[in-house]
Amino acid sequence: MNTSSAPRYTDLISSLPKEEGILEPYSYQYQGFWYSPVGMQGIIDCQQHFQAHKNDTFLVTSPKSGTTWLKAILFALINREAYHPQDPHHPLLNKTPHQLVPFLELLKPSDYDLFSNSSNRIFACHISSVSLPKSIMQEGKIVYLCRDIKDTFVSLFHFSNKANFRPSAISLEDAFNLFCKGVTLSGPIWDQILGYWKESLERPHKVLFMRYEEMMQEPHLQLRRLAKFLGKPFSQEEEKSGLPDQIIKLCSFDSMSKLEVNKTGTLVGAISNDSFFRSGVVGDWKNYLTAEMASKLDQITEKKFRDSGLSFTMLPSI
Ligand code: A3P
Repeated sequence: MNTSSAPRYTDLISSLPKEEGILEPYSYQYQGFWYSPVGMQGIIDCQQHFQAHKNDTFLVTSPKSGTTWLKAILFALINREAYHPQDPHHPLLNKTPHQLVPFLELLKPSDYDLFSNSSNRIFACHISSVSLPKSIMQEGKIVYLCRDIKDTFVSLFHFSNKANFRPSAISLEDAFNLFCKGVTLSGPIWDQILGYWKESLERPHKVLFMRYEEMMQEPHLQLRRLAKFLGKPFSQEEEKSGLPDQIIKLCSFDSMSKLEVNKTGTLVGAISNDSFFRSGVVGDWKNYLTAEMASKLDQITEKKFRDSGLSFTMLPSI
């Protein structure tokens, strides 16, 4: 995968509204959402050239909501006949989830062919539902993942300062103000979540809405739900042999973060692989946000999601 070619769509991109970014020096607003300069090129590329296939699976997420985890889960689940989760040569032991399930925004049209031989292609992206290439909505299945807004923000703040793409580190306060204004990768986050929430209600066979906290709290139930949605439910034999457990264990934070391949190297030469594994804890925001900050995010969330049927209050036992 080569992302180092000359910049594309420069006239179009330079005509877009531009703001300071949390993760990168600048973000651009495109079709109502904010994206990085590199992401912008990949989005326009795939809007113009990407053709989805019937058996494709697309993982769409809000950044820092557990994309890496669900990439691993999807790969292990979909390819379980070719690779048993206890296989000592399982691809997830030697490749990062990002190598096995690429981000559409980081591919160029010539890269799409690299995956054309597979009958079970899996791609990921952070693109809003309004900007997703039409063929993705028509063909294939979409798994959408999001996470508690406060934890997503805290995870993004740490990731930004680790990735070091900005001329200088961003303060928690500056990042918070941009995030609340909606100026965050694929933000406003509330609008991205709502877009896929509505799609999942209108087309439940096409779009599955998932949450990080539910995966943490009830991984078996969520894995079965995912397998069923993808048309690959676990057989009685697979259940009896403990296959769901083995997939969960293979993809757990503990297992993944200890693998050499995830501790070293970078994603497309830019972001260290280990920065995708920080603490993996629900409610970590309590260690970083003031009561005022938490309350402000809760108020925006409450207002944005009012009347949508979507509730972001915590699950009972979390
Ligand atoms: P924290 O920063 O809160 O620890 P993304 O993959 O979308 O970039 O999300 C990264 C977040 O998911 C980080 O959250 C990271 O620690 C967490 N994460 C990564 N792998 C995980 C796993 N296998 N299980 C649970 N959480 C995981």
